[in-house]
Order: sequence, then C-alpha cells, then structure tokens
Amino acid sequence: MAEAYLELRRSAGLQGSVPLSGAKNAALVSMASLLLTDGISCLRNVPVSADVLCMIQLLQELGAQVMFDHASHTMTVDTRGVNRWAVSAAVMRKMRASVLVMGPLLARFGRADITVPGGCVIGTRPIDYHLANFERMGAEIVQQGTCVRAKATQLQAKRLVLEYPSVGATENLLMAATITPGRTEIVNASLEPELLDLICLLRKMGAVIDVAIPATIVIEGQQALSPVDDHAVMMDRLEAGSLLLAAAITGGTVTLPDAHADELDIFLFKLEEMGHSISVGEERRGITLRATKEPRAVSFKTHPYPGFPTDLQAPMMAAQCFAEGTSVVEETVYENRFLHARELAKMGAQIKIDGRRAMITGVDTLYAAPVIATDVRASCALVLAGLVADGVTMMTGLHHWRRGYDALEHKLQILGASITVCGASEQAATYSHDVAMHEEISQE
Ligand code: UD1
Repeated sequence: MAEAYLELRRSAGLQGSVPLSGAKNAALVSMASLLLTDGISCLRNVPVSADVLCMIQLLQELGAQVMFDHASHTMTVDTRGVNRWAVSAAVMRKMRASVLVMGPLLARFGRADITVPGGCVIGTRPIDYHLANFERMGAEIVQQGTCVRAKATQLQAKRLVLEYPSVGATENLLMAATITPGRTEIVNASLEPELLDLICLLRKMGAVIDVAIPATIVIEGQQALSPVDDHAVMMDRLEAGSLLLAAAITGGTVTLPDAHADELDIFLFKLEEMGHSISVGEERRGITLRATKEPRAVSFKTHPYPGFPTDLQAPMMAAQCFAEGTSVVEETVYENRFLHARELAKMGAQIKIDGRRAMITGVDTLYAAPVIATDVRASCALVLAGLVADGVTMMTGLHHWRRGYDALEHKLQILGASITVCGASEQAATYSHDVAMHEEISQE
C-alpha cells in the first residue's frame, strides 16, 4: 500500500471552537504509573495516539490486561497479572517513553530490564540522570551494550539532586519513591503541568507528595498504592498551542474552551507580542485568539516549564515565517531540533540555522512542496505551513503526526481547514506506525 500522506490546501481565516484531547505525554506516564498498583484502574480522557497504543502493548507484554474504548477515551488497566519486568528492545525502540516503566517496576518488583533508548533526530537524549539516581537509591545497575539491568531488594529514600529538571527523570524517580519507605526529595525537579497531573494521580492512589520551594518534590514513601477508580488525564496544552497557531497563521479566530491559560503563559505572551489578540475566560479557562493581519517578528529561547516549551518551537516557527522582521529562536533543551526548518525552507521560508539558533525572516508567501515530517512537532509545523502555502502541499511522515495527536486533522477541518489523509485508510495510517518506525527511534 502507498505511504499515507496529508494533503493541505490554503485555508484562510480558520473560525470556530473545538474541544481538546487529553495530553499524550500525561497519558503515557499515567499508564506507566499504574504498574505501582495491584488491581484495576480506570483512566479517562486518554488520547487515541499511536504512542498510547504502543504503551498498551508494553503493559500487555508485562502481563497487564488493558481495555481501551477509543470512542469514550476510557482505558481500564488490570495490573494483577503483571509478572514480567523486561521491556523488549522492539517496544523500547518504538517509543522513548517506555523508559518510564523503569521506576514503577524497580520499586514494586525489585527488577527492571530495559534497552537504552539511544539518540534520535532531535538530540542524543541520554538517560544518565535516571540511572545515576536509581543507583543513589541503592539499585544495582548493570549496563552491557544497550542493555540495562536494574536490581534492588529494597530501594532507599534519599535526597536526589537533578542537574537539569528532566521531565522523564523526575517522573521515573517520583514514581519509584512513592513506594520506597522513608522521605525522598527530588531537588531541581521538573514541575511541568504533566508532572503535576501525575502527582494528582499518584495522590489518588494514596501517595504522599508535597511540592516545595525551590522546585523540590518531597515524597513520603508508602507500603503500597491502590488502584484508581477514576482519573481524567489533563487536556493537551500542546494541541491547544497548535490550534491557536492555526488561527494565527491563517488570520482567523479560534476559541478553545478546554485550554488552561496558566499552562501556556509565555507562549500566549509571545503570540500577543506578535500582535495577535488573546482573550482568556474565567478562572483562566478557555482561550480565544483573534489573529492580526500584520504579525511582527518575535524571539524566544526554549526552556523547561514555565519557559517557552520546546514542543511548541517547531509549530511557532511556521508562524514566524510570515512575521514582519527577523525572529531569533534559541533551542536550549535539545541540540538538534530544527529539522522542520529544512522542510519549511523547501516551501520558501527564509531561515538560517547557526548551531542552536535559528533566524527566521518573514516572507509574504510560502509555496507548496512535498515535505517530510521528521518528528511529532515538526509534523505540526508543516501542517500549519501547508494551510497557508500557495498550491497543494503533500506531507509524508504521517506516522509522526499520528504518534502525537488524536485526530487533530478533524479539529482543523471543523475550523475550516483543507486537510485530507490520502494514500491509505485512516486506520492503516495509524497502525503503519509499526512499520514506519522500524529503524527510527521515537522523538519524545
Ligand atoms: C522533553 C521536554 C518535554 C517534552 C518532551 C518531548 C523539557 C525540559 N522537557 O521531555 O517538555 O514534552 O521532551 O519533546 O523541556 N537529559 C540528560 N540526561 C537524562 C535525561 C535528560 O542529559 O538522563 C537531557 C536531555 O538530553 C535533554 C534535556 O535533558 O537535553 C531534557 O530532557 P527531558 O526533560 O528528560 O526530556 P523529556 O522527558 O523527553
């Protein structure tokens, strides 16, 4: 079957209101955290993304039973049958977030065997913070080639200091600490909204967790955690950002009733600096963007939350391609996260890359071209560019789009975008993930 692709046509002035899906990154870690419990749990608002389907496969390989109702976005996970602690290299290679089962497995079963995920197109992405801090907690880690075997008869509570607020390392150590007797502190912890959502879920399981100043998570380890009857995964702030950018770039007006403005502060600030009008509903819920016809260049650096999110850097760049003047973007989280720039340049964008800096000079028009998505957020940048380019843009690498978003193309269609999946059935496009990811390490 021919490779699926997206076909995009110029779509001026997107208009309307759409709901958001659950956040993929929050859903993946929530699913991993259920390994801390022995019983049946229920998660709601789970997005139907290829990565979520991959995490289901991982949990099943470990012995869990998983039911996922795509229509209601409800997932039931029964962990009573979990009796394995090795993550196959095949699953690990498909999805970097597989590393998140390490903490729960090590703390609950005293064993976790994984494969080092290795580098990927956006950067080297080591897991040394995870491993060094599990060792500090008393785990014995043996690494042979890409194979990592971790063992611990009983993890020990410790004061752990992260030299960088890594999201994945904070999540892994936090989960392990919830059932490690004593008081664990994670200093310089990541406090991204997805982490706060995880803390909320863990507390429902009976975990005792405090967040202290400065950026410290304090955990009083419990004997065991209980399954959770009902947890709704947080709304996807990255999908929200992408939809607001779709309004901005097409010169439209879009409302997102589910979006939480507090989770997007700097991003919204930058959109206003560009000249767009942003209004926020009561209690900072609900965001409307009314686009300016004359966007101005804006510069920013990506940073851990609450800085400008690295995951919105690529889609923002599509909008910067039309802004009057020169925007400068510095990517401080990953060393190689500008691959979308090369594709945007094929469409006529004026972008110069110098190491971790990109300089984008606004142009009047982009032109349709065959473009290739290289990672989840790059796919979003190219979709946005395709909605304003002259001609018909074809974007391949659709599996990246499927990994990160739950039918975002349907929401864009509701708002008036001309975006169509071609070349394979929609279902085939979702599941072609397995084939397409064969030699490729996932980006997130
Ligand atoms: C990161 C982003 C997150 C985003 C996700 C997917 C930040 C801080 N994190 O999370 O918002 O959703 O990518 O794009 O913006 N690192 C190490 N050693 C480690 C772990 C991390 O050196 O053991 C480095 C990474 O190489 C990277 C940085 O720390 O340069 C951030 O990594 P981390 O936050 O762990 O990445 P993710 O959890 O994937």
